[in-house]
Amino acid sequence: MSKLLLINGPNLNLLGVREPGIYGQTTLKDLEEQLTAFARENQLDLSCFQSNHEGAIIDAIHDARNNFSGIIINPGAFTHYSYAIRDAIASVDVPVIEVHISNVHKREEFRHISVIAPVCEGQIVGLGITGYKLAILAFKEWLERNV
Ligand code: DQA
Repeated sequence: MSKLLLINGPNLNLLGVREPGIYGQTTLKDLEEQLTAFARENQLDLSCFQSNHEGAIIDAIHDARNNFSGIIINPGAFTHYSYAIRDAIASVDVPVIEVHISNVHKREEFRHISVIAPVCEGQIVGLGITGYKLAILAFKEWLERNV
């Protein structure tokens, strides 16, 4: 079974509590359980990781080399300025899909820029937690085409 890594960045540990009008009521634990089950239904094995720390996220991306067929990442606010996370993604030969729960383009101007997107296969924004499921389905199709 192909393995995917889900990385959620800073403040996403507070999902369900943090600005629920923007990010919804689902907690990170519920999200991770739902996505793990959804991945399994699609013959994929999902590992979940969350950190508020840039270096820990970079280490997780490096460690994904040789271990995972794809990474789904919501880098939180790091999206908008972390060249270090961008370089980590560019340094490993693992395809990455960027996901945002909210529609960053409808929000403050600083959220309109992603320094991560240019090194990703694709980006899904504004569809709530469904965006993560769409990323799993995109990987499923991509992995079937690239066996
Ligand atoms: C977010 C959008 C970011 O701008 C914000 O800093 C987050 C969450 C999203 O999922 O919509 O922490 O990545």
